[in-house]
Amino acid sequence: MTVIPTIDLVDALASEYADKSPSEILALALNQSGEIAISFSGAEDVVLIDMAANLGKPFRVFSLDTGRLHPETYQFIETVRNHYKIDIEICFPESDAVQNFVQEKGLFSFFKDGHQECCGVRKVAPLRKKLATLDGWITGQRKDQSPGTRNTIPVIQSDEGFSGVGKQLIKYNPLANWSSAEVWSYIRMMEVPYNPLHEKGFISIGCEPCTRPVLPNQHEREGRWWWEEATHKECGLHAGNLK
Ligand code: ADX
Ligand code: SF4
Repeated sequence: MTVIPTIDLVDALASEYADKSPSEILALALNQSGEIAISFSGAEDVVLIDMAANLGKPFRVFSLDTGRLHPETYQFIETVRNHYKIDIEICFPESDAVQNFVQEKGLFSFFKDGHQECCGVRKVAPLRKKLATLDGWITGQRKDQSPGTRNTIPVIQSDEGFSGVGKQLIKYNPLANWSSAEVWSYIRMMEVPYNPLHEKGFISIGCEPCTRPVLPNQHEREGRWWWEEATHKECGLHAGNLK
């Protein structure tokens, strides 16, 4: 078990692990002392769970239930729970915050004035609450998912945006350097269960009202918040990517 890396060590580790495999980066993360968990969106980031299971180390998984996910995604989260025989910690938004927001602005305000407010209530606040209990988190972010916002993400970073007062939070992105094609070869080769929405033309999967399938050769990110500018396509979970 290694101790939680300090800020200086994070940069050194990021260089040392820049060319290592996702599984090696994941092993480093799971060896970190303190509380650490995989954040699972119910999409192709399921490969992280498969890799963690193959490493044979104990690991934690959490998902943010915005209340607006596709039925297929809820089913898939349950499939993964049963397939790997793991607990998935489901994080809900504060009911008062959702109720006040919906009462004031209705159920589809994001189409009129942008997704930030709804994402703030349904995703970012619950994530902040969860991360306050953790020393590190593991995400499925990849550089190729969003050329505008993710093309420089390191495999390990200090998550300043979500670090608490006097507490450092480490963010691991083991898939950062993998392409979508590599993720999908892994899923098929290792017979990993996947969200059935992928068979309906969805590549990137988020909330139901804010995600749509893409056309051949259209970038996966164009299926997310398609009514907004490409440069703003971060919901706040990874706001540090917006420079
Ligand atoms: S988002 O910020 O645009 O919504 P994206 O869908 O690309 O994120 O997923 C990138 C990574 O963010 C996922 O692999 C996962 O680690 C984390 N993530 C996104 N949505 C969720 C969610 N609902 N629950 C848990 N983690 C999530
Ligand atoms: Fe709300 Fe859409 Fe953000 Fe989901 S992705 S939290 S529905 S704005």
